[in-house]
Formats: sequence, structure tokens, C-alpha cells
Amino acid sequence: MDAFAVGRFRTLARRGELGRDPGAVDAATAYAFAQLAKRVGPDAVAGLEQPVLTVFGLLADANLAKGGELPAVERAIVDNFHRLYYHRLEQTWKQTYWRGVHVWKNPLDLWLYQEILHDVAPEVIVEAGTKFGGSAYFLANMCDLMGRGQIVTIDVTEQPNRPQHDRITYLTGSSTDTAVIEKVDRIIDGKRIVVLLDSDHSARHVLAELRAWHDRVPVGSYVIVEDTNVHGHPVFPNHGPGPMEAVDSFLAENDQFIIDESMHKFFMTFNPRGFLKRIA
Ligand SMILES: C[S@@+](CC[C@H](N)C(=O)[O-])C[C@H]1O[C@@H](n2cnc3c(N)ncnc32)[C@H](O)[C@@H]1O
Repeated sequence: MDAFAVGRFRTLARRGELGRDPGAVDAATAYAFAQLAKRVGPDAVAGLEQPVLTVFGLLADANLAKGGELPAVERAIVDNFHRLYYHRLEQTWKQTYWRGVHVWKNPLDLWLYQEILHDVAPEVIVEAGTKFGGSAYFLANMCDLMGRGQIVTIDVTEQPNRPQHDRITYLTGSSTDTAVIEKVDRIIDGKRIVVLLDSDHSARHVLAELRAWHDRVPVGSYVIVEDTNVHGHPVFPNHGPGPMEAVDSFLAENDQFIIDESMHKFFMTFNPRGFLKRIA
């Protein structure tokens, strides 16, 4: 069957029939090919690359022409780009800088944060998970442009040489620790806040963060749960239950927040279903 499938696809591709008529891929061939694709390892696909790309290109073209009417095809394009981007971390998100400081995010998400800051106009942004301080520095510079706002960023670990900025307050401790939350409460003091959760990505910790922080967020503002993409959504399948699972548990017990679907507009976000907007 393997030889049949490969031979059939190659013949169709050589004759150009795949280009003229996607229906030329009959059901038996498609089935045989799917079985084959399950078995071949990455080393064995070289000979199949061209016919597969031909077929996939046709599907992608059809989806574009029909304005997204082939959702499975669109999903495959987006998810596989997402996986490529995320798993090539030494080239992508671990090599992303804001004014020379590491920021572990994808630039499409940073643009969404800028839009949210404009719309919500927070007086304080609370960030759980500082790392090198690049995201806090980015947010502080956005606040500079808007002429308002400060950042409180929390991490269990201290780092040397984090960026110093009048708008940034660094706190050391856990984002769910009562003493840390009390310190942040003194800074918030009833002000309009946005919360970013980017610390320990276990479902247990993120759910505890959501429970601890959600009530401080006013109607119209956001809790942004970062890295909901792990645990196979669609990256890092072996992560274990993570932020996405915490969001599911949180929304099952709380109807004051909704997932802001408009934040999926750029197709790839590291935070799918993670932009939680308070509506009541
Ligand atoms: C993904 S990094 C943060 C990246 C940073 N926000 C950025 O975009 O560049 C996660 C950070 O969370 C911190 N962290 C882990 N557990 C934590 C906890 N319980 N409370 C606060 N921070 C924690 C880690 O020390 C690490 O620096």
C-alpha cells in the first residue's frame, strides 16, 4: 500500500493532475496516503515532499479564494506555523528584544498589549513573572507614550541588570503569596488595573493566580493568561496541564469574565483563549 500511495501521488503530481483537479486524489489514494503518513518518520518524507506540498498548496489556495471556508486547512496552516515558531525558540522568542532587553513573547502579542493599553487606559499593570524585565520595560515605554500608568512586576527570582525605569516597581516573591498581594494592593489602591499572568505555567498555579487577582480587575479590563498554547494548544504537548486548563477551570466557576475572541485576529497568539475580559 505504501508503494501504491507514493507511486500514485507522484504520477498525479508529474502529470499535473493535482494542479488541475483536486478531485484527482481519489478516496483510496487519500486513505493509503494517510496510512503511510502515519508510519513514515521525518527521515522518510523527502520523496513525498513535493506531491504533499502540491496538494496542500491547492487546499491553501482554495481556502484563500473562499475567504476561510476551509477551517481545517486554515487551522493546519496557523498551528504548524505556531509550532515552528515556538519550537525554534533559540531563533525566535528567546531572541526577541525590547530596546536590548530579552522579552519572551511574540511580537504579535506585544502589539495586542499595546492596543489593550490604549483601550483600557490602566493606571497600574500588574505582571506576574518578570524574568529579565523586557516585558515590563516594553509596557513602561508604552505608558511613556500614553503619558500614564505604572508597572508592578513580581518574580520569585531576582535578576541582575534589569532595566531601571521610574514607572517600574520590581517585587520579589510568589504571585500568590499573601504578603506580596498586600504590597501590590497598597500600590493599586482602587486604581484601574490590567493583570498579566506569565509566571509558573502549571494549571494549579495559574488557577490560584486567577482566583487571587481577578476581583481586582474592573469591568472592561483584562486578566491576560499567557502561554495557554502549551500542553498541545498547539505546542509543547508534553507540558502537562497548564494555563489553558486553568482558564477552563476558572471560567467554569466564574461568569464575570469572557474570552475576548477578537484577540485571535492575528491568527497566531501564544495566549489562545487567554485574553479574559471582565464583563460584570
Ligand atoms: C516566562 S518567564 C517571564 C517572562 C517575562 N514576562 C517576559 O515576557 O519576558 C516566567 C518567570 O516567572 C517566574 N516565576 C515562577 N514561579 C513564580 C511565582 N510563583 N511567582 C512569581 N514569579 C514566578 C520565573 O522565575 C520566571 O522568571
